[in-house]
Amino acid sequence: MKLSEAIIQRRSIRSYLDKQVDEELIKSIFLQAQDAPSNCNTQPWHVSVVSGAVRDEVEKRMVAEIMSGKPPANVFKPGDKDLVEENRKRQIDCAIALYDSVGVKFEEKDKRQELMLRNWQFFGAPHGAFISMRKDMGEVNAVDVGIYVQTLMLVMAANGVGCCPQGALAMYPNAAYELAGVPEDHGILIGLSFGYADKEAPINNYDVGRAELDTSVSFYS
Ligand SMILES: Cc1cc2nc3c(=O)[nH]c(=O)nc-3n(C[C@H](O)[C@H](O)[C@H](O)COP(=O)(O)O)c2cc1C
Repeated sequence: MKLSEAIIQRRSIRSYLDKQVDEELIKSIFLQAQDAPSNCNTQPWHVSVVSGAVRDEVEKRMVAEIMSGKPPANVFKPGDKDLVEENRKRQIDCAIALYDSVGVKFEEKDKRQELMLRNWQFFGAPHGAFISMRKDMGEVNAVDVGIYVQTLMLVMAANGVGCCPQGALAMYPNAAYELAGVPEDHGILIGLSFGYADKEAPINNYDVGRAELDTSVSFYS
């Protein structure tokens, strides 16, 4: 697959087939992603991949924490807080497009919450990944992790594997520390659900679009 095709084909997948990704293919995907560049080649990311019984137990514990009313316990500041109007508008439009795709209206709070809860059920994906870096690292190191995650997602797309990057998977990290070996001196920046996409599912078939090029990029010569 051409890079341009992988970029276009990668879309966040929030409904999956009940089919595991072969273990060898998973290893090969993570091996390829390991080639991502980083500042002075520091490679600050650590990834804990969960499948099978561990994945199920992590889901159970995250959902139990949420249901018990525990507040989120992010190590790093979440990316969706304190947004200025331009970014906040895009965030709201993105949420509304998601609700619309499954016929949920903004006023239907219970249904919205149900949809939100799907985050910690890995959207039904057979696999999850928790991506962390040391707690004492900062924004520049987080750039490395972001580059790594996009490399990983494109490799997945090129191999026909769907995924959804999820800041939500950084909110209730206890289970990932206890069951999936996230290093104690690390904080989770982001998680990823992955598996084979249910291509027919409406939730996988809407497009949030992007800003016009000149609102993001300026050219000078
Ligand atoms: C850093 C990051 C965090 C995200 N967190 C979530 C999340 O918690 N839950 C979710 O459903 N989607 C999440 N997304 C997916 C975005 O909503 C999605 O990438 C965006 O709307 C663009 O859509 P696309 O990925 O289909 O191109 C996240 C994406 C990124 C890059």
